Amino acid sequence: MSVQFEEYSEALDRAHAHAVDWLKSLPNRPTGPRLSADELLADFETSLQSESLDAASVVDELVRLSEPGLIAMPSGRFFGWVIGGTLPASMAADWLLSAWDQSAAMRRATPAIAAAEQVAGEWILDLLGLPSTAQVGFTTGATTSNFVGLAAARKHVLDKAGWDLTERGLSGSPRITVVGGADRHASVDLALNYLGLGKPMAVESDSQGRIKVDALARALDAFSGPTIVCLQAGNLHSGAFDPIAEAVKIAHEHGAWVHVDGAFGLWAAASPSLRDQLAGIEECDSWTTDAHKTLNVPYDCGVAIVAHRDPVRSVFGVQTSYLLNDEDGPGDPLERVPEFSRRGRGVPVWAALRSLGRSGVIGLIDRLVSHAQTFAKELGQFPGVEILNDVVFTQVCMSFGSDERTRRITERVLADGTTWMSGSRWAGRDVLRISVSNWSTDNEDVAQSVAAIRRAVAGEPGS
Ligand SMILES: Cc1ncc(COP(=O)(O)O)c(C=O)c1O
Repeated sequence: MSVQFEEYSEALDRAHAHAVDWLKSLPNRPTGPRLSADELLADFETSLQSESLDAASVVDELVRLSEPGLIAMPSGRFFGWVIGGTLPASMAADWLLSAWDQSAAMRRATPAIAAAEQVAGEWILDLLGLPSTAQVGFTTGATTSNFVGLAAARKHVLDKAGWDLTERGLSGSPRITVVGGADRHASVDLALNYLGLGKPMAVESDSQGRIKVDALARALDAFSGPTIVCLQAGNLHSGAFDPIAEAVKIAHEHGAWVHVDGAFGLWAAASPSLRDQLAGIEECDSWTTDAHKTLNVPYDCGVAIVAHRDPVRSVFGVQTSYLLNDEDGPGDPLERVPEFSRRGRGVPVWAALRSLGRSGVIGLIDRLVSHAQTFAKELGQFPGVEILNDVVFTQVCMSFGSDERTRRITERVLADGTTWMSGSRWAGRDVLRISVSNWSTDNEDVAQSVAAIRRAVAGEPGS
């Protein structure tokens, strides 16, 4: 036993030292990786040796092999895709989870994890102003949370149509109509695909990617029977929020279930200065969000919230003789997510929220928005730059003129290594996207990143 302990202790000490070195390197290292996966493979790829190696040396080797291929995602100057950093309390809690190694399926087996996750879920509902009776599950991310919400929706609308999905399956069931905004996130379609529901009917969106309510009403008038409406709180390119209050009213008048993909944007509901943009959010039936984006919890951590207990429990719940089911309490964690065995990923959420407190959560969200607005203001003054979205949340989308010029400047920004931003295509144009999602981004990070874009623009012929 003591030998094992020493092996753990040495390996964890090495991991701690390497982790601190990594975190210290973030302010100064180039944001991009130095080597590609193919180049790294040359070093990683070796036939598996027959003898065992000691844990500390394996940790050292992993770091040596990986270091040139790490991207500075937790850096305050990383603005690619929608990538949060990691709050210190949350990272430490995540490490402890690995040491505790609890399989977080059942309340009676892993009570500490169940209690921490239950409270984290209650805090999330309270912060976001969602019904306190909603079911909260901790998933791997927003894609899986969309799957959970839409699976509950599928069960509920078929139940209402008198079709028992659990007994009879999907084959031969009444047809389910799914509608969503034309500018929805691809993961909604992915989740619908997993569920055998096919592609949703696309309802026209406005210039910011928000679903048009009159078009939604027309679409719903054309159908009867089981219907699911997918709304969005936070468009990947513009950050914009669908007009939820109006959309949910119309959808419910048509008897539809309303699911909201709020992977990063649902957190706006926690901020008094932003909440109005999500008016009516509490009326919806299921919600997706991520903790690994705006809340800055380590990967992988999504949150699946469903207003109604029965459909989610009957899709994901399971009772079988070898389990220790919670029959009288609030139900087992495994009844709200697709997995049986999983890490207690709600625990780092508990730690993030406990360390931030209510004012810290609001401060974090408002700070991200304020940095995004500074980017838009500063970059909007560059000659030839067009900011394409109204910066209502954490996303900024810009064009530098022609698609070719935008692509060239994007490449130069990435090659410079000061900051990381992703290129994309939106509203028929090539764009540079900035997603301000890291808790540690400060004014200096924004100023350095603006300066890097200025250098990239100055590199254009004729500038
Ligand atoms: C609106 C939206 N939905 C869903 C997702 C998918 O999130 P995840 O990668 O956590 O599955 C994203 C990712 O950026 C997103 O922006």
